[in-house]
Amino acid sequence: MGKFQVLDHPLIQHKLTIIRDKNCGTKVFREVVNEISELMAYEVSRDMPLEDVKVETPIGWTTKKTLSGKKVAIVPILRAGLGMVDGMLELIPAAKVGHIGMYRDEKTLKPVEYFVKLPSDISERQIFVVDPMLATGGSAIMAMDALKKRGAKDLRLVCLVAAPEGVKALQEAHPDVDIYTAALDESLNEDGYIVPGLGDAGDRLFGTK
Ligand code: PRP
Ligand code: URA
Repeated sequence: MGKFQVLDHPLIQHKLTIIRDKNCGTKVFREVVNEISELMAYEVSRDMPLEDVKVETPIGWTTKKTLSGKKVAIVPILRAGLGMVDGMLELIPAAKVGHIGMYRDEKTLKPVEYFVKLPSDISERQIFVVDPMLATGGSAIMAMDALKKRGAKDLRLVCLVAAPEGVKALQEAHPDVDIYTAALDESLNEDGYIVPGLGDAGDRLFGTK
């Protein structure tokens, strides 16, 4: 089973509470999602592979660590995942960015795929799929299916708020995928929204509705 981790650093908790507030407007929502994503990037990149390198300091030669250069791809699930890309790129600036377009049918709650564009060497990359919300898990499961179909192997999901139902569904469908979330909430309501959650992440990020 893949790793499941709640990244509940005090700064992350504080910032998440700001965007849960229904009175938080689009500008602040967007800025704070960006800040949380940057903090999460720090945590989710902890196990990036290192290798030895010789370096000459002003005092003498030594052997120290440097990133081994495993290539990274950040893959947002459109639309809401877009809000997490820039924060991740702040810490991993050389990453390539793929896109998976998907929306949830409001009646069936089933995801509908409408766009996939990935780096051609996706099978060699460590992949961070980003989407603020893991609700029923349908979108994340379909995104992982789409990535694996194109050769992706090293996959993790980074989200802000997860429902227990979504975590269970994703773990069952893709036991190899690590899941990182800033919060594990209580449940889903009858409309498939996370409770207490933060509402519709895409609409709040882009000011639609
Ligand atoms: C939201 C969210 C996830 C999905 C989660 O996207 O960003 O992609 O719902 O729900 P699930 O786990 O039940 O599939 P939405 O369909 O609202 O599209 P949007 O990002 O374009 O607003
Ligand atoms: N998608 C969202 O944007 N919010 C939820 O609570 C559930 C799915």
